[in-house]
Amino acid sequence: MGLVIVLHDGSVGDANTLETGNAVAQAEESAGLLREAGFETRIIDYSQNGQQALLPFKGRGDVVILNLVESIDRRDDLAWQCPQWLFENGFAFTGASASALRLGDNKIVAKKLMTQNGIPTAPWHEIEALPALVATGEKWILKAACFHASLGIDEENVTTSFAALHGLAKKRKDTFGGDWFIEKYIDGREFNMGMMGRFGGEPDILPAAEMVFADEVYAGREQKIIGYKSKWDESAPEYNGASARYAFDSGDQALLASIQAICRQCWQVFGLGGYARVDFRVDPEGRPYVLEVNTNPCLAVGAGFMNANAQRGLTAVQVMEKLVLLAR
Ligand SMILES: Nc1ncnc2c1ncn2[C@@H]1O[C@H](COP(=O)(O)OP(=O)(O)O)[C@@H](O)[C@H]1O
Ligand SMILES: [Mg+2]
Repeated sequence: MGLVIVLHDGSVGDANTLETGNAVAQAEESAGLLREAGFETRIIDYSQNGQQALLPFKGRGDVVILNLVESIDRRDDLAWQCPQWLFENGFAFTGASASALRLGDNKIVAKKLMTQNGIPTAPWHEIEALPALVATGEKWILKAACFHASLGIDEENVTTSFAALHGLAKKRKDTFGGDWFIEKYIDGREFNMGMMGRFGGEPDILPAAEMVFADEVYAGREQKIIGYKSKWDESAPEYNGASARYAFDSGDQALLASIQAICRQCWQVFGLGGYARVDFRVDPEGRPYVLEVNTNPCLAVGAGFMNANAQRGLTAVQVMEKLVLLAR
C-alpha cells in the first residue's frame, strides 16, 4: 500500500506552552492508525535534521508525508516552511499547502483576507491604534496574531477598557513575543467546523460541533471563553469546562446552513486542502463570525477533528486513510 512518513516537529513543551506536550506521542499514535490502515510507516523528527532524513525517499512514487509539523524553531508562524520544502522536493504531503498555512497562521492576515472576500469576521484593531480609541462600553478580546491553542488568552483579555488592553498587550508581548491585536468580543455561541477535501474542490463539511460551557464552571461569569486554562491547565476549574455537542433542533438549521456556506468560502479563499477547521462565534442576533481558520488541526484521537468524524461514522483509521488519499 505504500509508505507513510509521519513528520513531526519534536516539540516536548516549553516555558510558554504545554501544547503539543508530546509531538512524539502524537506521531506514534498517528503511525499506529496508519499501520492499521495497511500502510508501512516511518516517523521522522523534522527538527532533527529532518530534511537529510527525508532525502533518501525523494522521487519514490509510493511515499506520502503525514505533515504534523506545527512550528519550526518553536515558532508557529514559520510552520509553512516545512510544506514549502516538501513541495520543492517533490514530496506528496497531507493537509495545507505552504501558502494556505501562511495565510491561516497569522490571524491578522487571515482577517484582512476574510474582510476583502466578504467572509464575516469580528471587527479588530492592531495594537498601535489603541491609544486613539475611545471606549464605548463594548467588550474586546486581546489575542495573539501567530499563536494558537489559546496561548496568552484568559479572562483578563476581555474588557471594555482600551487602556487595560494596551497595557496587557505589552505584558503579553514581553512574555510570549509575537504580534497581538484586539477583536470585538462576540458574546454568544461557539462552533467548530471540520472540513476534509481536495485542494481546489468542494470540501466535505463535518458535523457541526457547538462548544457548550458547563454551568458548574461558567454560570454567572461575565464572559465565556475557551482560554488557555480550559485547554491545558488540568488544575483549573475551567479545564475541559466546555464540551462539544452535535445534536441541533430545527430552529438551528438556518444558522448551520449559513455557517457551512462560510466554511466553503474559507476553503476556496484560503486555498485549503486535505483538512481544516474553522472556529466561529455567533452574536446575540444570530450572525456568525469566523474567529480563525485552522490549517492542519490536531489529529489526536479524542480531539475535536476525530470526534466530529466519529459523528459521521468514520473511525480514526478511516480518517487517516482519507487524509493520505487527499495528499498532493
Ligand atoms: N472575538 C471573540 N469573541 C469571543 N470569544 C473569542 C473571540 N476570539 C476568541 N475567543 C475565545 O478564545 C478562544 C481562542 O481563540 P481563537 O481565535 O480560536 O484562537 P486559538 O484557538 O488559535 O488560540 C476561542 O475558542 C473563544 O472561546
Ligand atoms: Mg481556536
